[in-house]
Parts: sequence; structure tokens; C-alpha cells
Amino acid sequence: MSWNRKDLITIEELSKDEIEKIFAVATAFKKTFGRSVKKIPALRGKTIVNLFLEPSTRTRMGFEVAAKRLSADVISLDMNSSSTTKGETLRDTAQNVQALKADMIIIRHSAPGSPLYLSKILDIPVVNAGDGAHEHPTQALLDCFTLLEKLGNLKGKKITILGDIIFSRVARSNIWAMTKLGAEVTLVGPSTLVPHWFTNFGVKVSHDLQASLEDADAVMLLRIQHERQTSSHFPSIGEYTNMFGLNKTRASWLKPNAIIMHPGPINRGVEIDSDLADSEQSVILDQVTNGIAVRMAVLYLCSGGSPEAVIKHSN
Ligand code: CP
Repeated sequence: MSWNRKDLITIEELSKDEIEKIFAVATAFKKTFGRSVKKIPALRGKTIVNLFLEPSTRTRMGFEVAAKRLSADVISLDMNSSSTTKGETLRDTAQNVQALKADMIIIRHSAPGSPLYLSKILDIPVVNAGDGAHEHPTQALLDCFTLLEKLGNLKGKKITILGDIIFSRVARSNIWAMTKLGAEVTLVGPSTLVPHWFTNFGVKVSHDLQASLEDADAVMLLRIQHERQTSSHFPSIGEYTNMFGLNKTRASWLKPNAIIMHPGPINRGVEIDSDLADSEQSVILDQVTNGIAVRMAVLYLCSGGSPEAVIKHSN
């Protein structure tokens, strides 16, 4: 039951066993959520630096809440207030964070590979909070943790991911996580955003929205990631919504107990109707809450915490 990684950079590199270890620890930590005093002393005396060089609401706050629940001290640095605006390199910024005796860096960056790069030059643990269109490992972990809570098991479960797949780090990390856990994943959207070569990752690619929704135990919507698109991939947002947005008619194709997911931020009225985002089938806010438990587990394990100790203590 040991954990041997200093860093969390990708889901691709994790085994099913490691993913399940994170979930076991996250389940133990989630038991603290109902307490009046939610803090536990697991990372007391540690300093964690949140280095967010791209915008974020859920991930940045999720990591901050998780670190504080573990009693760590948290320092957050964003793009606008850091000396990267004065020309400092990522390498120098990170080495200064280490020289300031931080115990861990959580990094979000628009450049794919930047967390891996830091993990190779720093002695302290590095956690990837999203690197370009490459990976967003804790998002996939919290998504799969939520799926397991709602569906019980992922083996043979059918998950449809609908939207801008090609520019999505959430899709890539989820493809790795869901398939490792035994789910059957179908990617749907316009062919410009869902190219056929994704089948190399062991998933289906479909442009038949109705069939993909009828078959699904869960559907995950993704927003159009304009910040990574350098050219037009469809005529207009209105046409995308008309063709692929989840509206009342399309939601009626889902099984009654199928769940609706979205990593956020939601663009209401574009990839999903507002009413559906707030409906009984939506687990979007459960995903956010589960992000605390999963990130507590990742911070704890990458800091050298013992999975057995926390699981035994929670029973
Ligand atoms: N899901 C997600 O990464 O959201 P933020 O960009 O708000 O962190």
C-alpha cells in the first residue's frame, strides 16, 4: 500500500493500483468533511506554493483548501503578480521558490511539459495543476472519484465526453484514467475538434451525438477552449451550440439515471443549457467538492505520507 512518487505529473504514468491508492486516501480524507473542525495536522509545518501562471478558479482554490485542511501553509503566486512579468524564467522562479524553503510546488502553466521540466530540476515535489492541452491529472482523478461514487464501478461503464477534445487537457487525463479503470470512453463533437486519431488512445470517436448519448452512463461536457485555438474550428459559437450543445431534447436521449458532468468553467447556453447544469442529473458541484478530497490525497502522498496510516485512522 506504499506510495513511491515524489511528483504527480500525468495520469498516463500512473498504474490502476496507484489511482486506486489515491482514491482510498481521498475516501479517508472525505470522512473529515462532516466534522465541525475539518483541519487535520498531516502537513503541519510544511509550506506549499501554488504557482498559477494561467487563470483558474476551481483548481487553485481546490488545492488551497486541500492544503489548508492538511494544516500546511499555502502561498499563492499568479501570473500578474509574479516577476515572470519582468522577464524571469520559469526555471529561475521555481528555483527561487525552492530556495525559499517551500516543501512543494503546484504549477499551472500554458506550456505542456513545464511541470515535468520542474520535476527534473527541483528536489521538492511538483504537482501538475494543468499544462497546456497536455494533462490535468487532479481533474481526472476527481472526475473518476465522482464517477465511482455515483456509478459504483467503472468496469464496462460507458462514458461519453462531448465537446472540444483536441484542445482539452481534461479529456486527455480522463481518457487515461477512465480506460485504466475499465470504462468504455466515446469522444463526440465536430471532426475538427475530435479527430479520428484519438482512437489510438483506446477510445471510440463518434460524430453520432444521439447514439453516444443514448448509450452513456455518464456524459462529460467540455467547453470550447478559445484560449488554445489559433484558428476557427467551426463557423460560429451559435452553430456549435445548435449542433452539439446539450439541450433539453438531447438530454432526453440520456438514460434517466445517467449523470451529467463538467469540469468547469461552464459556458451556460453554449455547451450546456443552464437548466441542465443545475438539474438533478448534474454532479458538477459534487466534482468540485470531491476535488478537495482528491487533492488532499495527492498532497499528502507526494509529501511522503503513508496511505495505511490515514486509512487506518479513518476507520
Ligand atoms: N476545471 C478547472 O481546471 O477549472 P479552473 O480552470 O477554474 O481551475
